[in-house]
Amino acid sequence: MLLLVCYQVQHAIAQISKIDQRVDSVLKRMTLEEKIGQMNQYNGDWAATGPITKDGDKQNQIRKGMVGSMLNVTGVNHTRTLQEIAMQSRMKIPLLFGQDVIHGYRTTFPIPLAEAASWDIEAIERSARIAAVEVAAAGIHWTFAPMVDISRDPRWGRVMEGAGEDPYLGSIIAKARVKGFQGKGFGNTDAVMACVKHFVAYGAAVGGRDYNSVDMSLRTLYELYLPPFKAAFDAGAATFMNSFNDLNGIPATGNSFLQRDILKNKWKFTGFIVSDWGSVGEMVNHGYAKDNAHAAMLAANAGSDMDMESRSYIKHLAQQVKEGKVKMSVIDDAVRRILKKKFEMGLFDDPFKFCNEAREKEQWNNAAHLLAARDMAKKSIVLLKNESPLGRGAGVGLLPISKQTKTIAVVGPFAKAVKDHLGFWSYDWADDTARIKTLWGGIQKKLSADSKMIYAKGCGITDTSKAGFSEAVNAAMNADVVVVTVGEERAMSGEAKSRSSIQLPGVQEELIKALVATGKPVVVLISAGRPLIFNWTADHVPAILYTWWLGTEAGDAIADVLFGDYNPSGKLPMSFPRTEGQIPVYYNYYNTGRPAKTENDLNYVSAYIDLPNSPKFPFGYGLSYTRFDYGQLQLNKTTLKGNEQLNVSVTVTNSGQYAGEEVVQLYIRDMVGSVVRPVKELKGFKKIMLQAGESKTISFSITTNDLRFYNDQLKFDWEAGEFEIMVGTDSRDVKTKTISWTK
Ligand code: GLC
Repeated sequence: MLLLVCYQVQHAIAQISKIDQRVDSVLKRMTLEEKIGQMNQYNGDWAATGPITKDGDKQNQIRKGMVGSMLNVTGVNHTRTLQEIAMQSRMKIPLLFGQDVIHGYRTTFPIPLAEAASWDIEAIERSARIAAVEVAAAGIHWTFAPMVDISRDPRWGRVMEGAGEDPYLGSIIAKARVKGFQGKGFGNTDAVMACVKHFVAYGAAVGGRDYNSVDMSLRTLYELYLPPFKAAFDAGAATFMNSFNDLNGIPATGNSFLQRDILKNKWKFTGFIVSDWGSVGEMVNHGYAKDNAHAAMLAANAGSDMDMESRSYIKHLAQQVKEGKVKMSVIDDAVRRILKKKFEMGLFDDPFKFCNEAREKEQWNNAAHLLAARDMAKKSIVLLKNESPLGRGAGVGLLPISKQTKTIAVVGPFAKAVKDHLGFWSYDWADDTARIKTLWGGIQKKLSADSKMIYAKGCGITDTSKAGFSEAVNAAMNADVVVVTVGEERAMSGEAKSRSSIQLPGVQEELIKALVATGKPVVVLISAGRPLIFNWTADHVPAILYTWWLGTEAGDAIADVLFGDYNPSGKLPMSFPRTEGQIPVYYNYYNTGRPAKTENDLNYVSAYIDLPNSPKFPFGYGLSYTRFDYGQLQLNKTTLKGNEQLNVSVTVTNSGQYAGEEVVQLYIRDMVGSVVRPVKELKGFKKIMLQAGESKTISFSITTNDLRFYNDQLKFDWEAGEFEIMVGTDSRDVKTKTISWTK
């Protein structure tokens, strides 16, 4: 076995040096203009994901070797056409084709924030794997994903793209998504290059306003925002994308500290960095570059290897080199990085290896992919409330609904919605209407033959007309149970979709009030790309499911949960605020000198006098149709020294009548530090299945590595002292034991 491993390592090293030699043999034959052509990326004009610049003849530039990569070129035919043109260039360097495949390509999976709510890492990796298989079959080599931006601000529309507020969960998910996209490695025609974005701290934009400034201490940057990027790097991510924001006054695209000092020098990143759409040229708007020529110089010298769509490199970089403002070594390093990926992807050996019409057709409506999407979707749903229609404590919850229910009213703008289930960063296909599972259809398939369904739209998502209320109320009056489905339309969360109000849009909550007023049992489903505010609903409706944007299989997955064919297991990856005024609200806060002792403590403490001191729903929160009871924490010791290991175990019992999954969460608090420490930090979790009545003992092991943090000198170390060890069903409801750990 050892001999085999040695051979494999030697073979890998030989492969790498062989590729390096091939890269150098190409590089030394290239002109400066051809080198800069490799650093130039254009949009393909079949679709746009940024402000389009209609200019010049891109195909002619490809023919002249002035383009290294294209994005938004959809399908094998189009990529083949452009690749054939690239093969007419002097150097015959193949194009790289990139695409935003954020949560599925032909099969749309739940948005990434929804997938994060599943805490099911295997399912998340499988989702990325399927996306890679489908988009690679469409001739694409590279996905601009995973987006790993931590964010604590649901006003920022791009929270839908990430994994929420926590660096530990975000890091594990980042790794899973990179592994999913890159599969068994480059050269396989179902493996695409990942692109970790947006480097860095884009999710901390002022006011949650997209593209806005970010100002934070380096300690916070290292503690909260860099970890998922490091996890993705450690997982072997091929490329990074820098971010639109300035960080502490320097735009990320022109930020040498980020791109060279941290990523390329400290972490030893050997892939390449692509700018975000136009972000090189946008340094002029930032007031960091006086013109595009200056921007090109700043970005190239700072380590941005490829210029997406700003044309700054292709128009100005050669002159900057000739004037000595950019060294040829900078150009050669960038081009070497780009060529190396093209060699690793096997494109020099076969530029058309991803262009296979038969393989593309195999991926249309792939039954296994649709099943995986349904599985991912149902696991992403979060049960926020499930009380008896007669009120709290009056008995069993309203959910699940019986399949024998005589009459169900299905009300609201999402009842028969189709594309709004796909969410932002999804693709429109001609047969979507036939393929996307609607809620109406999902419920219909579950109900017994003699059950009746009544439909009423009630209102639109954003309009303020209540003209449809009477029909909806009438439907409710004639039903045994009312399912109301509300939320955000597809383009209300995502890029450039920041919202100052994150209430349920339009008159949707008034529709809910009108339906509750009928006295009929009401279930509310909320489909959105971000945490929303719906306090009246949360306080007055007995059953609420957060159904995010669940993709192609949405309706069937929601119906699986509604009727109990799947017991919901999702847990919130972001805290839900009570008001916009409470933002940012997050679980891993610092205690301050005047912490509130209770939710309503107003005695000279850090609190709002008009709001309880807690989120509406906390990080890690999610209910089940059953009940999980936690025993006392068992520790192998309560005083530890040096490199000893702490073992924590807890017995979890399913005390209800449904089998179900529970995400057992482990948090730690460092009671005293050389810098203040959060009141709790997620350090582990296990998603377990328990049959009704079953108990399992869940164990976690903790070492001093789990205690490390960045001190005020940015040293990553742990400090002796007392720690609280917490295990529970969410970040609020935990069992706690205290230990001491000395050096
Ligand atoms: C967009 C997004 C980025 C995306 C890129 C290409 O502006 O910020 O996430 O990958 O442009 O579409």
